[in-house]
Amino acid sequence: MSDLVIRPGLADVPVAESAVSFIDGQRARLEYRGIAAETLARESSFEETSWLLIKGELPTQRQLADFHRELRARRKIKYKLKDILRNMPESGHPLDALQSSVMAMGMFYPSRDITNAESNWEATLRLIASLPTLVAAYARARNGDEILDPRDDLDHAANFYYMLFGKEPTPAVRKVIDAALIIHAEHTMNASTFTARVTGSTLANPYSVIASAIGSLSGPLHGGANEEALHMFKQIGTVANVRPWFEKAQASKAKIMGMGHRVYKVKDPRATVVQDLAENVFAETEKPEIYRVALELEKAVDPVYGSKGVFPNVDFFSGVVYEALGIPTDLFTPIFAIARVSGWLAHWTEQLKNNRIYRPEQVYVGKNDQPYIPLEQRP
Ligand code: COA
Repeated sequence: MSDLVIRPGLADVPVAESAVSFIDGQRARLEYRGIAAETLARESSFEETSWLLIKGELPTQRQLADFHRELRARRKIKYKLKDILRNMPESGHPLDALQSSVMAMGMFYPSRDITNAESNWEATLRLIASLPTLVAAYARARNGDEILDPRDDLDHAANFYYMLFGKEPTPAVRKVIDAALIIHAEHTMNASTFTARVTGSTLANPYSVIASAIGSLSGPLHGGANEEALHMFKQIGTVANVRPWFEKAQASKAKIMGMGHRVYKVKDPRATVVQDLAENVFAETEKPEIYRVALELEKAVDPVYGSKGVFPNVDFFSGVVYEALGIPTDLFTPIFAIARVSGWLAHWTEQLKNNRIYRPEQVYVGKNDQPYIPLEQRP
């Protein structure tokens, strides 16, 4: 019998030293390189936040201007990549399209020598710059719409909106998208970040690193939860139905999507930022029923699961905001990836500085010393 002890889900098991971000789950505090994420969502831009995460410091004015220029120069995707996206099944999930096209991109821009800092930086720029283009291209191509080229005169958030809808966002909508990208950009050692570090630890190329992280993000217990939360609000339908629905959910022990977190035992500070964004979006219009359903559900859940530390996480309100912007539900997780790529790349860069391949242990519970029975002697 092994004396190794398993911690399911690696809960409380540190797997790396990291200086990228910090969470205090009791104080609802999230910091990127020591700066409160809420402050960044309010004051910064996605581009500046990405630099901060990857480089460790806020950029100088010159560095930020150069970074903007370098990203804009890498937004376009190869026409062959557009063809690949056009030929993908339109019934497929856009996150799967993103994962496949990131892998394909790695074939156009080989960067196998990860000891080469210049090539790593090139891949970092290209990945951040082109994820929005890949997502928007598939979103349009699957509807038979023309794929739009990126625009150099728009920032990251506005350009994404433009490539998706063919029009510029209003300044208020641009800010909502930018802030949503910032608040989703990084979150310590979550499943997809750990995936990125595990793949990175094998010295795989950065496109493989990001593609594996995207795969990990896709599940409903991680990035997929924002879609699931919106489906849940729609299924509930009306404010009046919230409490009867919740009673049934409780009876069947169903998890409330967009609630609960391994680390936060209070309301996720990102949920508060996204809720503020929702309030801004709905300031001039009547609050949509699904938002009112979400608010009522939060109230209903609090006295029942609050003692277990189950409160809204970032995914609870983000779907409501994206829906209000006219963004199709299945693009919510791809947008999460557009944001989180900066965090993944920051962790990949950190991992490579002091790398050792991840190779954990297992507790073997199978049989030993079994005979091989020839097929003809088996029933
Ligand atoms: N709804 C109802 N109860 C929940 C819950 C939820 N969303 N999340 C956790 N709980 C309960 C669990 O049933 C468990 O109760 P128990 O101790 O009586 O068995 C307790 O809270 C601890 O939950 P657990 O599943 O062990 O937490 P975890 O750290 O393993 O999982 C999540 C964290 C995020 C996977 C989990 O909260 C979840 O599945 N949430 C819904 C999906 C989601 O929103 N994911 C996005 C995360 S940003």
